[in-house]
Amino acid sequence: MDTIAGMTDLSAPITLNDGVVMPRIGYGTYKVGDDEARRTVETALELGYRLVDTAEMYGNETGVGRAVANSGLARGDVFLTSKLWNDHHGYHKARAALESSLERLGTDHLDLFMLHWPSPKQGLYVETFQALLEAKEEGLIRSAGVSNFLPEHLEQVHAELGVWPSVNQVELHPYFNQAELRAWHAERGITTESWGPLGQRTGSLLHEPAVVEAVTAHEKTAAQVVIRWHLQHGCVVIPKSSHAERIAENLAVFDFALTDEEMARIDALDTGERQGIDPGSGER
Ligand SMILES: NC(=O)c1ccc[n+]([C@@H]2O[C@H](COP(=O)([O-])OP(=O)(O)OC[C@H]3O[C@@H](n4cnc5c(N)ncnc54)[C@H](OP(=O)(O)O)[C@@H]3O)[C@@H](O)[C@H]2O)c1
Repeated sequence: MDTIAGMTDLSAPITLNDGVVMPRIGYGTYKVGDDEARRTVETALELGYRLVDTAEMYGNETGVGRAVANSGLARGDVFLTSKLWNDHHGYHKARAALESSLERLGTDHLDLFMLHWPSPKQGLYVETFQALLEAKEEGLIRSAGVSNFLPEHLEQVHAELGVWPSVNQVELHPYFNQAELRAWHAERGITTESWGPLGQRTGSLLHEPAVVEAVTAHEKTAAQVVIRWHLQHGCVVIPKSSHAERIAENLAVFDFALTDEEMARIDALDTGERQGIDPGSGER
């Protein structure tokens, strides 16, 4: 069985392979500027989000950190994730980049820190990940993950360091549903996190008949149907919106469940084609 609906309370957090407990839904901040992040992340936290995804490359860690501080929530109640950019691969650079991220975020630890891309041409992702594992031992990060890794990159990390990263954040939406990679991750206890979950970069996912039929059946919005599809596939999902009403809408996904047939119809939208860069291409 490919979906986990009915077996798991999807509003409950997921336990990663290192024992760290992570919310299944969060607020994504790509293309949200520093000032905007200060507002929208605070809104998201007020509305009940407890996971926030940022990255060194997004240029908004200061705003995200301010929003967390202004939220009035205890630091331990917010699951803060960031990512190391590609020009900071290498053992020493990685450590310095992590310290800079922590400084901008105004926190003494990250809940999850990821390598943003494997950057295979540099050939440094294993030693970079080693630096993350050491930072974990020191308490600077609670969990060490990756993003945009292909199985060959994950295998290499495992072969040399003897661990599987806790999370692999990858492009994933109904047009590129990554069924094979999800299954591969599941066999190894790696949690799949979906980026670009609403598939908005090309096409019109939210108007696809398979989505619209579920919208009608459940009296939910198209974004809610798609976000629910991710959750029922066992993925952590981090939709981004700059609008408070959509930020609220995207979290209201725990009062309905898609049927196996509805899941299968949405699965059938897969094109097998990425909307973003191929991590194996060496472009990043
Ligand atoms: N690791 C990586 O390489 C990588 C790459 C890309 C993204 N990410 C992460 O994943 C997060 C999500 O991906 P993403 O931001 O690219 O795309 P996304 O969350 O799939 O889609 C965002 C787009 O959908 C719109 N939208 C949001 N909620 C909506 C709703 N309820 N109804 C209709 N439209 C809605 C937003 O518009 P408005 O803002 O105007 O509402 C925005 O244009 C990012 O923010 C980032 O944290 C990671």
